[in-house]
Amino acid sequence: MQNFPTNRFSIAPMLDWTDQYCRYFHRLMSKNTLLYSEMVTTGAILYGKGDYLQMDNAEHPVCLQLGGSAPLDLAQAAKAAAVRGFDEINLNVGCPSDRVQNGRFGACLMAEGALVGDAVKAMKDASGLPVTVKTRIGIDDLDSYEFLCDFVEKVKSQGCDTFIVHARKAWLSGLSPKQNRDVPPLDYERVYQLKRDFPELTIAINGGIKTLSECETHLQHVDGVMLGREIYANPYLLSGVDQQLFGCDKIPLTRFEVLEKMYPYIESQLTDGVHLNRVARHMLGLFQGLPGARAWRRHLSENGHIPGSGIEVMQKAASFVNEE
Ligand SMILES: Cc1cc2nc3c(=O)[nH]c(=O)nc-3n(C[C@H](O)[C@H](O)[C@H](O)COP(=O)(O)O)c2cc1C
Repeated sequence: MQNFPTNRFSIAPMLDWTDQYCRYFHRLMSKNTLLYSEMVTTGAILYGKGDYLQMDNAEHPVCLQLGGSAPLDLAQAAKAAAVRGFDEINLNVGCPSDRVQNGRFGACLMAEGALVGDAVKAMKDASGLPVTVKTRIGIDDLDSYEFLCDFVEKVKSQGCDTFIVHARKAWLSGLSPKQNRDVPPLDYERVYQLKRDFPELTIAINGGIKTLSECETHLQHVDGVMLGREIYANPYLLSGVDQQLFGCDKIPLTRFEVLEKMYPYIESQLTDGVHLNRVARHMLGLFQGLPGARAWRRHLSENGHIPGSGIEVMQKAASFVNEE
């Protein structure tokens, strides 16, 4: 197998979706995919009451995405993540929500390249981990290619060598975060150009990618691809990644084997007091495209949230699905 960058194929950070349960499930289908956490703010890590750094050893390689802008806070949070075993840190410079802008982080940081550079350096020094940046191609009227290059140059000068670029700009007002994932047009060529102009950087492309053959096309121009919504809706797509994009020859698990492997994990979560649905909700798309997939989803959705539900709900739901 060739030695590819860890970012060659990754699953996007998605708030409320890519939690530890989701990542455990996804890992069963691909050994090489880089998994991301949801965005976690520095405030939550440093001052929050919960444990926002929960991660299972089976998840590696896994990257923690941080939201924040104060270099000292980011450094402390990155250090805490390193202690907990995360493999990589990513800074969110792509989220356009009002809440995030009020905290002066997310996509609005594209206008503050020097600050992002300082933050990257502080996180690297404090954690000893690779630190990457996930960004857009522009914000509001700051959407020229020169603006994007200037941002990348500033951040690169402080030691960032990997950028994941969501190939559309973000409007900081007027569009909801959801609209900002669909309405501004995709411009893959701009990301390809960035790679041509910064060949020494690892550049991964994100936004609207739905198939592994599309990934192969992008990989002729950039170093990595990141998929979000499509993988969440159709997670078994992952089972082709190791062979098709990483050149592995190991036969992937079937969907039913994946399900079987989830049972002991789910049992142990149930014993710890976690409700079935917190794990099962990420698995609704497992049988996408097969006869009975809808009945599987319906049974899980209608029963998974009932207190006391266990593995038998999943087994019953799976009985509606026809073998491949
Ligand atoms: C439910 C949801 C939550 C998201 N949360 C985050 C987040 O926490 N951090 C982030 O950088 N992007 C977040 N995103 C954006 C994705 O990471 C990704 O950039 C976007 O969905 C485009 O990729 P896709 O077309 O493959 O889904 C989120 C997207 C969705 C759908």
